Amino acid sequence: MPDFSTLALPHIAKLHAYTPGLQPTGPGWVKLNTNECPYAPSPHVAEALRREIGDDGASLRLYPNPKSTPLRAAAAKLHDLREENVIIGNGSDDLLNLLIRACCTQDAAAGFTLPSYSLYPVLVEIQDGRSSVIEFDRTMRLPVEKIAGSTARAFFLTSPNAPTGVAFSNAELERVLASFRGLLVVDEAYAPFAQENAVPLLPRYPNLVVVRTLSKAYALAGIRVGYALAHAEVIDLLDRVRDSYNVNRLSQAAALAALGDQAYYGGVIAKVQATRDGGVRELAERRGWFTYPSQANFIFTEPKNARGESGPAVAQAAWNFLYARKVLVRHFPSHALTASFLRLSVGTDGEMGVLRETFDAWLKS
Ligand SMILES: Cc1ncc(COP(=O)(O)O)c(C=O)c1O
Repeated sequence: MPDFSTLALPHIAKLHAYTPGLQPTGPGWVKLNTNECPYAPSPHVAEALRREIGDDGASLRLYPNPKSTPLRAAAAKLHDLREENVIIGNGSDDLLNLLIRACCTQDAAAGFTLPSYSLYPVLVEIQDGRSSVIEFDRTMRLPVEKIAGSTARAFFLTSPNAPTGVAFSNAELERVLASFRGLLVVDEAYAPFAQENAVPLLPRYPNLVVVRTLSKAYALAGIRVGYALAHAEVIDLLDRVRDSYNVNRLSQAAALAALGDQAYYGGVIAKVQATRDGGVRELAERRGWFTYPSQANFIFTEPKNARGESGPAVAQAAWNFLYARKVLVRHFPSHALTASFLRLSVGTDGEMGVLRETFDAWLKS
């Protein structure tokens, strides 16, 4: 058998692939590790899927709308923009990938902060591009001046940030945009749970790209749809590198139904926010664990053991205890600013009750 790694390009042969959160298949898990929505999508979604499939699935013979045109129109209407300002992706990961493909090489860096969404460096590595990394400190305040002065061709800023949940204000983004000359890509996967978002800045800043997903607030992680909003010329560039049929027929139908039911999702978002705020209070005030203020659908907290100690080993021990009891959360041991923390996706109130009781049991163990 040939050594396939010698056939691949050298940077691919040594690539460290992105590690997605665990997706357990057995029953009985309280799954709070990948920030999915704990509630079902709008009932209109299942109706739209049934309609699209029909009695015999005959429509599936045909390719989908190549540009997802009806969805572009719906997203444009939702955000008070024009269809030419929207592109639809097979999940927002697809759009992040298109942005890197379009902009990044060894000579043209892609910038991002650390910590943030760990897919960005992997996409850069796949492209054999260059990363320009700006580190947070423990305050998690935005290093505005450093980003504003970055020479990156595209800078990816997650707001609210992952895995901390800390959101950045439009005033801070405007200070970056005042001097940054590359594309500022604000990854707003969690913005529907936040107080503010960058969409109102789009008409004034042609180098701003806002990326959204239907995986979180719209409860459609399984359907894989995201969209990006930007100046028409930026969208045109991304369309050039997009797969011709990047979003399948069923996903387009489901996403269209979801975007059309804003009233339903307003209720879902309010419930998640209320559970989140209760969870932050419980962890920070009752337990006294350092917890970042979250504007997302997850909570980043630094567990303390029964002796009042915290640190990477304590976070790992808490994770292990929860995992053994089928409560799944996320631990990011590879960075000093995240290793002492656990990220807890906001579940239903019932799931959060199980989490609370399991932390209590850990403290007594
Ligand atoms: C910050 C951020 N951006 C993008 C994504 C990817 O979302 P999608 O499911 O739309 O690919 C995630 C998923 O967890 C995320 O945390």
